Amino acid sequence: MAIIYDESKKLYHLMTPKSSYIIGLQAGKLPVNVYYGKRLDNTEGVVDTICRFHAGGGPSDYDTGVQGEALYHEYPTFGSTDLRTPAFHAVYKDGSRVTKLQFVTHRIIDGKPRLEGLPATYVENDSEAQTLELEFKDELFGLVIVLRYTAFNDFDAIARSVYVKNVGDGDINIKSIMSASIDFDRDDFDFIHLYGLWARERHVERKPLFYGKTSIQSARGSSSHHHSPFFALAQKNATENQGDVYGFSFVYSGNFEAGAEVDTLGNTRAYMGINSFDFNWLLKNGEDFTAPEVILVYSADGIGGMSRTYHKLYRTRLARGKYRNADRPVLINNWEGTYFNFDEEKILNIASRAKKGGVELMVLDDGWFGKRNDDKSSLGDWFVNYEKLPGGIDGLAKKINDLGMKFGLWFEPEMISPVSELYEKHPDWCLHINGRGRSVGRWQLVLDLSRKDVQDYIIDFLTEHLTKANISYIKWDMNRYMSEIGSDLLPAERQQETVHRYMLGLYRVLETIVTRFPDVLFEGCASGGGRFDAGMMYYFSQYWTSDDSDAIERLYIQEGTSLALPCIFMGSHVSECPNHQTGRTSPMQTRGYVALPGTFGYELDVTKMTDEDFEEMKKQVTLFKELRHVFHQGDMYRLVSPFTSNNCVWEYVADDKNTVAVISTRVKQTPSTRNLKVRLEGLDENAVYKHRQTGKTYSGAVLMNSGFVFTNRGDFSSELAVFDKID
Ligand code: DGJ
Repeated sequence: MAIIYDESKKLYHLMTPKSSYIIGLQAGKLPVNVYYGKRLDNTEGVVDTICRFHAGGGPSDYDTGVQGEALYHEYPTFGSTDLRTPAFHAVYKDGSRVTKLQFVTHRIIDGKPRLEGLPATYVENDSEAQTLELEFKDELFGLVIVLRYTAFNDFDAIARSVYVKNVGDGDINIKSIMSASIDFDRDDFDFIHLYGLWARERHVERKPLFYGKTSIQSARGSSSHHHSPFFALAQKNATENQGDVYGFSFVYSGNFEAGAEVDTLGNTRAYMGINSFDFNWLLKNGEDFTAPEVILVYSADGIGGMSRTYHKLYRTRLARGKYRNADRPVLINNWEGTYFNFDEEKILNIASRAKKGGVELMVLDDGWFGKRNDDKSSLGDWFVNYEKLPGGIDGLAKKINDLGMKFGLWFEPEMISPVSELYEKHPDWCLHINGRGRSVGRWQLVLDLSRKDVQDYIIDFLTEHLTKANISYIKWDMNRYMSEIGSDLLPAERQQETVHRYMLGLYRVLETIVTRFPDVLFEGCASGGGRFDAGMMYYFSQYWTSDDSDAIERLYIQEGTSLALPCIFMGSHVSECPNHQTGRTSPMQTRGYVALPGTFGYELDVTKMTDEDFEEMKKQVTLFKELRHVFHQGDMYRLVSPFTSNNCVWEYVADDKNTVAVISTRVKQTPSTRNLKVRLEGLDENAVYKHRQTGKTYSGAVLMNSGFVFTNRGDFSSELAVFDKID
């Protein structure tokens, strides 16, 4: 059973295989966190372990008689006697800002209800999880708040979200609504998060918490390159494979805030939700609002344990559709090979040589439509450029299919170029503020997806293309952040709802399209990996990880991305050298090995490849086809991190533990690491494994306790070791 209610103590015990999350009701009214950590099979005395601290002479709550700041809250509301970062802050009809939760009832439901209009994890069978709904009410203004918690039977994960409804008689303006907030009775944590920028996404930073607030956010209209909607609190001595780690991952792609506040008594409040900066949601009588879900993961097995839980949960219970379990095709994309300079013949030549190399899907990137010969025009004019493609998209798709390959096409549906027919017709369709200028980014503006007519226009043109031509794959790009955020169709008092309404609109469009075309493989992209988050993974089966295709830079980007997202989502391509982003030259083998664990492909003009590189390409494609189930459906172990050493070693263990693939790459050769000995993880100790490259045999125990020796030498060299269980 996933959730147990103890009536006598008014305790809710949420259990996952290895974690317990216990909620109490202070004075029978207020939700408090009693415990979150390693699973407790016997909870005798747990209430006594809540050591309520004295909050330094602050006022006591007029209702419960307890200082608000002396409690471990589950959903702290602003305005009474807890003045740390609130999870909820609203302005009521009389201008007051105090919200008081009063417990009404609870419900324990088998399974996991859907979050209407929002991406979320799901169950396929009600026996996979239980959901607790705790309902509270602020009687004075008629605000109902329901806290939702789902405990999964097979994952050490708790999904949290919040539902509110105005059942009073006045307007309520929500200023801040976090999806999750937890108070920990400790402050011995490091804050781990992912930061970056274009071509340098999701680098890992780990910093100790301090008295005060550590926070990350996005106010760019999307989750962004700069900060990912993810963080972890790691016990100070936690490593990749041991120690307490708590992960927070937001299943949402818009503005977010997240952080940890350590109070001066040494307690930590962690929170995550829609960014309250530039947010105001007007809730009129009878209206409701659902805050997107946060997935909490507890791991006693360090950061790696946390990652593996996210990986499995997201690839099996967030990803959907045909491609959740299907093999990813090897693709070739023409972007770095041709940029805008291509015609049908060029694309067919690329496809036909790539096919000889074993590639399965040809993707035509930007530049096939309108008058788009550079990035200055035509977004919105989604009709084919017959000068480049005389046979149209359907004609080209047919010719690619005749080569024995699938065909894929690039779109940037959320954008509009000021130089376009669409803009001439609908200058009001972009986000803008009347009377102000419109700032362009990459010479483009953002369509106002909070509008239904704009959403329908996108659904219609995509439907037309996908119906007319045999398109098996769509790359959905999005290349700029929002500025001058405003919508023509929203009244003044709802303008600060624009960004969230945009996201809801985008989710509606995506849901419609992926449901209507279940056989199409959708890959997301945002100037590289700018909106690569858990929210997007509900719709896109894979995501372009970064425009930086340099193998060495990719070690950092893919390692960081893997903290919360599995490699089955990570688009990773082999490109030419010197690399277009960094100017670096790395061996073809290394470029292949670093890209192999992701959704693998090539992004270069394969017709210009040397015979030697082409032979290497064929080997890589064969390897990927042999190993894709290991990389994509197995467990990942980060054995050596490029962030803390000169090497990077990633290990992938197949679900049945029968095959193990380990990729070891040198960022920098140093004399002290002539050979690199690495202890593997997650193997069957008693089994015997055969090293495919040499035929030598090793026991699982030897590989895990003594290690395996990699002999690749030299800066940027890479070695792949594959082990098959033979006994
Ligand atoms: C940005 C993407 O990240 C690239 O892969 C490419 O599709 C370009 N946009 C095309 O404009």
